[in-house]
Amino acid sequence: MEEIASHVGELGALLNACVHDGASVNFVLPHTQSDSEAFWIRKVIPHARDGGLAVLVARQNGRIAGSVQLDHDTPPNQVHRAEVRKLLVHPDFRRRGIGKALMTEAERLASDLGRSLITLDTRTGDKAEPLYQSLGYTVAGVIPGYCRDPFEDRLDATTIMYKVL
Ligand SMILES: CC(C)(COP(=O)(O)OP(=O)(O)OC[C@H]1O[C@@H](n2cnc3c(N)ncnc32)[C@H](O)[C@@H]1OP(=O)(O)O)[C@@H](O)C(=O)NCCC(=O)NCCS
Repeated sequence: MEEIASHVGELGALLNACVHDGASVNFVLPHTQSDSEAFWIRKVIPHARDGGLAVLVARQNGRIAGSVQLDHDTPPNQVHRAEVRKLLVHPDFRRRGIGKALMTEAERLASDLGRSLITLDTRTGDKAEPLYQSLGYTVAGVIPGYCRDPFEDRLDATTIMYKVL
């Protein structure tokens, strides 16, 4: 955990680059490096310190190239489930298998934590959808008008997916 806290600048740069590249990951423009760092400081680190959120990081030549979060802070009737959040690969490092490797590691961790069901959502039609499908995720359904596009005043659909481990 202290490791994440000491890499807030780099993790912020990862999120900021993804948002400015058009990723639908909760943020809209204008968005700054400082907004990205605030996300890690306020939303991620406290949750990880509480023990309900695991953060996995991928490095390339010493630089943070990607990250994914596994939220296992589920209610008492869903202790078999975990939620994958914020799969991010820096635009400089895409299509090298990092996203897939992060997901594989998140699944391994979920399994180690005794979780047998993974759920996630992703903007319908985004690059992540074929990635999740290639890993065996099933589409549960699509919710129209779920989230605003980061650049344009337009609402996009989200696809809810799941995988039984
Ligand atoms: C989605 C994302 C994580 C993929 O990361 P990545 O490291 O480039 O993915 P990988 O190299 O592991 O690709 C794995 C598979 O995903 C699919 N895929 C990934 N990028 C793709 C693209 N641009 N177009 C089509 N398919 C794509 C392919 O099936 C690919 O396998 P292949 O390269 O053998 O064809 C990355 O594009 C990203 O960070 N996007 C912005 C953030 C985001 O939308 N995250 C998802 C939030 S739910």
